Amino acid sequence: MSNDTRAGKRFRSQEWFDNPNNPGMTALYIERYQNQAFTRDELQSDRPIIGIANTGSDLAPCNKIHVFLMDRIKAGIRDGGGIPMEFPVHPIQETGKRPTAALDRNLAYLGLVEVLHGYPIDGVVLTTGCDKTTPAMLMGAATVDIPAIALNGGPMLDGWWKGKRAGSGTIIWESRRLLVEGKIDYDEFMGRVCSSAPSLGHCNSMGTASTMNAMAEALGMSLTGNAAIPAPFRERMAMAYDTGKRIVQMVLDDLKPSDILTREAFENAIKVNAAIGGSTNAPPHLQAIARHAGVDLNVKDWETVGFDVPLMVNMQPAGEFLGESFFRAGGVPAVMGELMKAGQLHASAMTATGNTMGANLAGVESADLEVVTTYDAPLRANAGFKVLSGNLFDSALMKTSVISADFRERFLKDGVYEARAVVFEGPEDYHERINDASLGIDEHTILFIRGVGCVGYPGSAEVVNMQPPDALVRQGINHLPTVGDGRQSGTSESPSILNASPESVVGGGLAYLNTGDRVRLDLNASRMDALVEEAEWEARKAAWTPPELHHQTPWQEIYRTHVGQLAEGGCLELATAYRRVGQDLPRDNH
Ligand code: FES
Ligand code: MG
Repeated sequence: MSNDTRAGKRFRSQEWFDNPNNPGMTALYIERYQNQAFTRDELQSDRPIIGIANTGSDLAPCNKIHVFLMDRIKAGIRDGGGIPMEFPVHPIQETGKRPTAALDRNLAYLGLVEVLHGYPIDGVVLTTGCDKTTPAMLMGAATVDIPAIALNGGPMLDGWWKGKRAGSGTIIWESRRLLVEGKIDYDEFMGRVCSSAPSLGHCNSMGTASTMNAMAEALGMSLTGNAAIPAPFRERMAMAYDTGKRIVQMVLDDLKPSDILTREAFENAIKVNAAIGGSTNAPPHLQAIARHAGVDLNVKDWETVGFDVPLMVNMQPAGEFLGESFFRAGGVPAVMGELMKAGQLHASAMTATGNTMGANLAGVESADLEVVTTYDAPLRANAGFKVLSGNLFDSALMKTSVISADFRERFLKDGVYEARAVVFEGPEDYHERINDASLGIDEHTILFIRGVGCVGYPGSAEVVNMQPPDALVRQGINHLPTVGDGRQSGTSESPSILNASPESVVGGGLAYLNTGDRVRLDLNASRMDALVEEAEWEARKAAWTPPELHHQTPWQEIYRTHVGQLAEGGCLELATAYRRVGQDLPRDNH
């Protein structure tokens, strides 16, 4: 690409800092930015101002590495010819934020849109990492549509416990079962879980954090190879520098999210998600990014585009290894290179490098076939999602590739299963009653949880992967089929039926299900239905009244008033109408 293709166009930041037609306001803007040691010459030097959206803080430990990467990002921006200005992002920490981090994804999105629109910023480095930070940043960039590039903080080093890899999240699910079975005590439980977090960085398994950063790279919104570099590695610092340098040229070339976030880019990302064994949280997040970018994407696309893509990455929870091995095997470029060789990707999709995805991946292949396989010799077939529908919901996701042989044998012969429903009203109800013998939970039960979607929880909680009653676990039954209008942690391998939309509190079909109803799952037809007489079902619907919602904060009320359903990305619906707001300059403030 050429050096400066602006052809005389002014930077938007010059409307603040360098506007001779409005000396009064220019002076007012300059004087205060000067007081933190930017000089007037510098701010009026015809150089772009690059914002750095810092998602790291003490409250957001998964992204804390960005605090230490800032020097390298800023050095890259300076060497590229830009002026860096770092700013904070509302913290989103997946495991620490109550009631859910998902509630805050849209709040951080709103904050980013407002900052990028209202301040003198020409391009932005989006620092990403923990689950919701990545989609929040990409959603904001899509709405504002000024040049933007994603920089992951990277996964933690691999965790180890007694000579075995201990992956984020996955070790918790396993240890919980061992605790119930009495095989470990409380101290060992704590030790096992904490061993999975040995350094700065985000989750080191293929949970939602690694998944969403792979999605950012697959969409073309980061430099090639960004997603998988572990946080403490020197390559991470180099990537921070290169990303800073690159965003300046993107501004000069006016390469915007709308040039990158096309339908082809989303189809590439859907295929990559299946190949990496990616999180069931990716569909709502990608749906949200697509909607803010104005790209036509439907939840059913996850089945039609992605279902038959095989599992090509051997990483927990679907496999054995963790982030360090994935990086050494070549990371996301290795997966995409193998998919590209098999003709699975749109090679012409434009990316943040200024080149097409095809050009970025030329000659790239797996460096370790035990960790990243070829397309033709994968770990498992059909690693994408089934998108189910029926009288209980219009859509719900199921990752059928994680169904164990034993589970398939017990429950899913020929893809059809009928069983008795037991329904819980949220996680508190589940914890209180799961061991209640009067519920009659046996191996022919399907566990349902409702009231845990975007409006209900609020924010949609990761609570659908419910463990069976202790008595069943002791008999060796570690999984029952579970269904709900909430989500599940990307680090869990449970074959749950998730993200049911519409959710029960807005009148979705799950609201009318009773404990004791028979339910039929038909994977061949991608359906799940309650086997209740039509007249009875309609009578229950007619008698139903929506539950009263208790808002604890103003944001909870605002969120619940405007949020849509998970199938549509859980966006603030009114926000999806806004496009390219970076081009609509705000008025002066005095
Ligand atoms: Fe933050 Fe997993 S909890 S990355
Ligand atoms: Mg989670």
